[in-house]
Amino acid sequence: MLRPGRMPRSGLRRPPGGATAIPRAIIDQVRDRTDIAEVVGRHVTLKRSGTSLVGLCPFHPEKTPSFNVVPHKGIFHCFGCGEGGDVFRFLMKIQGVSFNEAVKELAAAAGIQIEERDLTPAEEQRLRTRATLFDVCEEACRYYQGILKARPEGGPGRVYLQQRGLRPETWDRFRIGYAPDAWSGLVDHLHGRGFSEDLAIEAGLARRSDRRGSTYDLFRRRVMFPILDDRSRVVSFGGRIVELPDLPSPDAGQPKYLNGTDTEIYRKQRVLYGLSLARTEIQRQDRSILVEGYFDVVTLSQAGFQEVVATCGTALTFEQLEAIRRFSPRVVALFDSDEAGIKAAVRSMPLFAAAGVDALRLSLADAKDPDEHIRLHGADAFRALLNRTEPLTDTVIRFVAGRAGPTAVGRQRAVEELAPLVSRFPEVARASLVRRIADLLDLPERDVARRVARARSDARPGPQAPAAVDPPPPEAPLSPEVKDLLWLLIHHAEVVGPRIRTASPDLLDARLEVLDCLAGLLRGDSVAAVAEACPDESIRTILFEAASRTDYIPGDRAEVAVDQLFARLEADRIAMCLKRIRQEIDLGGPNRLDLVRERTTLNRRLAELRRLLPGIGR
Ligand code: UTP
Ligand code: MN
Repeated sequence: MLRPGRMPRSGLRRPPGGATAIPRAIIDQVRDRTDIAEVVGRHVTLKRSGTSLVGLCPFHPEKTPSFNVVPHKGIFHCFGCGEGGDVFRFLMKIQGVSFNEAVKELAAAAGIQIEERDLTPAEEQRLRTRATLFDVCEEACRYYQGILKARPEGGPGRVYLQQRGLRPETWDRFRIGYAPDAWSGLVDHLHGRGFSEDLAIEAGLARRSDRRGSTYDLFRRRVMFPILDDRSRVVSFGGRIVELPDLPSPDAGQPKYLNGTDTEIYRKQRVLYGLSLARTEIQRQDRSILVEGYFDVVTLSQAGFQEVVATCGTALTFEQLEAIRRFSPRVVALFDSDEAGIKAAVRSMPLFAAAGVDALRLSLADAKDPDEHIRLHGADAFRALLNRTEPLTDTVIRFVAGRAGPTAVGRQRAVEELAPLVSRFPEVARASLVRRIADLLDLPERDVARRVARARSDARPGPQAPAAVDPPPPEAPLSPEVKDLLWLLIHHAEVVGPRIRTASPDLLDARLEVLDCLAGLLRGDSVAAVAEACPDESIRTILFEAASRTDYIPGDRAEVAVDQLFARLEADRIAMCLKRIRQEIDLGGPNRLDLVRERTTLNRRLAELRRLLPGIGR
């Protein structure tokens, strides 16, 4: 589950039972016409595995893929975190949109018309604004690019970029532009293209002067770096002031960099500069390089390190790490080699641990940042550094151990400091970190492990911690037999269907919702449609899980499996009856003879079942 804070519109949930303003038939049609693999593939690298596709789950940290997409069933499911559903659910989770928005987005892509009146006015307004904000940012990007490439007022930008060693092909690749030193160049241009001043303001590109009420450009005399979202749409900009010997110095108080503010289409904390251009190379190299500045990204990329991304003038966030981890869990992060840099590394460790990222530390000894390093020492020198990274955890452990000194008290203090850090890592990583610490501090591994375990239990909320919401009433869990039955029906309906149709219904005295699902599947409805109609979240999860698990019971074993399954259900039922009969006999009721006779019949049937199924009974 995502934490609530990360879902921008967690309030918008699909109503129980799937009742929505959009007709069910349209929803089904959109789902049928959408290729879930293509939609998921925009966010997750998928590899084929049998009839399904697997990849790293975008919804929880993991290093081995447990996220499955089953294209022919139109569903996804993660065996790691349990998240699953159809393509709408995927979009809702990954883009933080409502169910209706997800349906509409995919309907538009599939060319399916949805009646406008299905939208509430507020929803309609929001969709319209989103579209026009993308449009206005795109138009601004073209304007800045045009100035840089061809206009006289773009001269300072051209000179500045040439001085910093960026070639025109690189300007194009990153769509870099120049904002002229004028008050309303952009606003006027946008006006000519039919965009209102209000839109320019809403997009974070202009501001209204309090005194005169006129609207002016926010970015002036700056090299403009457009920031793209994961679908390569321009959503914001970062601008660097241009300083040149022949130009008067910029106005005092002008910051070196100006970053776009958050808008309806841009959340700074979720976006990484350069990611949409870097992702192919991140996948290919199975690592990313995380740097601090726009110029670092562009220069490194030009020098052949295209797997590079940067934060946009914010501290690194969990969401940003999640965004890169989808493409590779290995992140090379730059830290200064001085004590301040190492302290920053120590501070950042919990964040990397929580995001499930393998952080590798790279430090630059003889340059202030990668951009300068490339300019001073060239690409080969940087490549050599990249080959000498070390795990961030090693740096941190060595630093803390070294600082604590060799005395028993010192080493104990080091363990105290490291334990809470280590406790946040996933189990596999924890074990090797414990070994490493024990080794470096020359302490018994058991002692270190115990201290880490204590830190883990300290970190868990105590029993008195107030629950945020009332827990849902406990549901009777589905029996393994019923789960297997659902699986068999989903994957081998031809074999299993007839057997289930003729089964005695009281064997399947499962919950009503389950019976509805079985009935739907027997009718031949798709898993996605059956799940959509099912009001119970846990059963939906079981359905998706079953649908994604393709390699469970092979087709030629399905018939035997279903027979065994019914045999087990029947045996369970008989066992319950026998228990009841025993109690009644013990109570000494009047119809003892009938009970004894029934017991004999049941015992005989149980013996038969046991012969059929050696595993049954004790
Ligand atoms: P630096 O000051 O290290 O600059 O800021 P830089 O990236 O090396 O830039 P150049 O090489 O001097 O042109 C690093 C990053 O911090 C953010 C920007 O994202 C910048 O790329 N920053 C810096 C701001 O947001 N505002 C500022 O005023 C300065
Ligand atoms: Mn720099």
